[in-house]
Amino acid sequence: MSQPAETIERPSAADPVLTVDGLDVTVSGGARAVRGVTFTLGRGEAVGLVGESGSGKSLTCRSALGVLPAGCEVSDGRITLGAARAGDGEDAELTAFTRKQWNTVRGSRVGAVFQDPASYLNPSLTVGRQLAEQLRVGRRLSRTEAHTRAVALFGAVGLRRADEVFHQYPHELSGGMLQRVLIAVAVSCEPELLIADEATTALDVVIQAEILELLGRLRTERGLALLLVTHDLAVVAESCDRVLVMYAGEIIEDGPTAEVLAAPAHPYTEALLRVASIGTWGRRALDIIPGRPPETGAELPGCRFADRCAHAAPECTAGPVALRALDAGRRARCLRPAGSGAAV
Ligand SMILES: Nc1ncnc2c1ncn2[C@@H]1O[C@H](COP(=O)(O)OP(=O)(O)O)[C@@H](O)[C@H]1O
Ligand SMILES: [Mg+2]
Repeated sequence: MSQPAETIERPSAADPVLTVDGLDVTVSGGARAVRGVTFTLGRGEAVGLVGESGSGKSLTCRSALGVLPAGCEVSDGRITLGAARAGDGEDAELTAFTRKQWNTVRGSRVGAVFQDPASYLNPSLTVGRQLAEQLRVGRRLSRTEAHTRAVALFGAVGLRRADEVFHQYPHELSGGMLQRVLIAVAVSCEPELLIADEATTALDVVIQAEILELLGRLRTERGLALLLVTHDLAVVAESCDRVLVMYAGEIIEDGPTAEVLAAPAHPYTEALLRVASIGTWGRRALDIIPGRPPETGAELPGCRFADRCAHAAPECTAGPVALRALDAGRRARCLRPAGSGAAV
């Protein structure tokens, strides 16, 4: 089933917070839904992870959080948290973690925010109590200290009248407020990395912009690294230093946001940008870029985008196409990347 090993070039961040190396995730009986995903995230860096629905973004994030859905598993590769804090010692290799180790790391070193905040909160406890509990356990604060700290954190994430919000139940708060609560919970134990998987997708555009601004501020103030999953390239353009583009389980292009968006190397990225520029980015991209992505886990001999690619040539489907380094910290999984002189 598996394809021949390839040499994956990975630009190394100066001070990595997260290193993902050759990550494979299989779903439902062995289909490879994430394929050889390799990247690093540096301290304080914001990286956008984009791609159509079903391209493997969430499974990649969930692997780094140790919360894969039932039936899905990491079948190959390594995910490492950089040794970042004095006294932490060895790098923490997440893929070898036990449940107990995960419980220490999740929250304290890696925080997460997902699309549906309500489902991550207990409906029968006030949001303040939930945050205070986390602080008592994670930061070993007394009840009074935890209360004071929780109110301060609610204020820091832009919740007005934080002392009143403390005593409210999830159902009393709007979606935007709940997302702020979840961000407060996620950063309460001062993680190095925050993974936000479509965290603003369900919110209206004004609230979405405010939440993104908040994440940006936390990043500047706390040196937080940010992995921001979205299918909105405008969000990436606004908030991310680098962008990773996934297609059918693979990274097909990455590099500094400005460069990639100004001059995409991979025909798929180029097609996405064309779709974005006419304002129909999202699920409808499937209708605008002719054809469909391959079935999840389909084993193809060559490029997974070839049958939808306007530039495809016979060699594109003859054998595996590696993710190769271009100039300026960029990579593309294409035999004839734009700008290389080889494109037709
Ligand atoms: N719980 C699951 N069970 C079976 N297959 C899954 C599950 N979650 C995801 N998949 C498969 O993996 C692919 C990638 O999923 P996902 O990472 O959620 O994509 P994205 O977040 O990019 O939309 C999906 O197309 C789907 O086929
Ligand atoms: Mg997803």
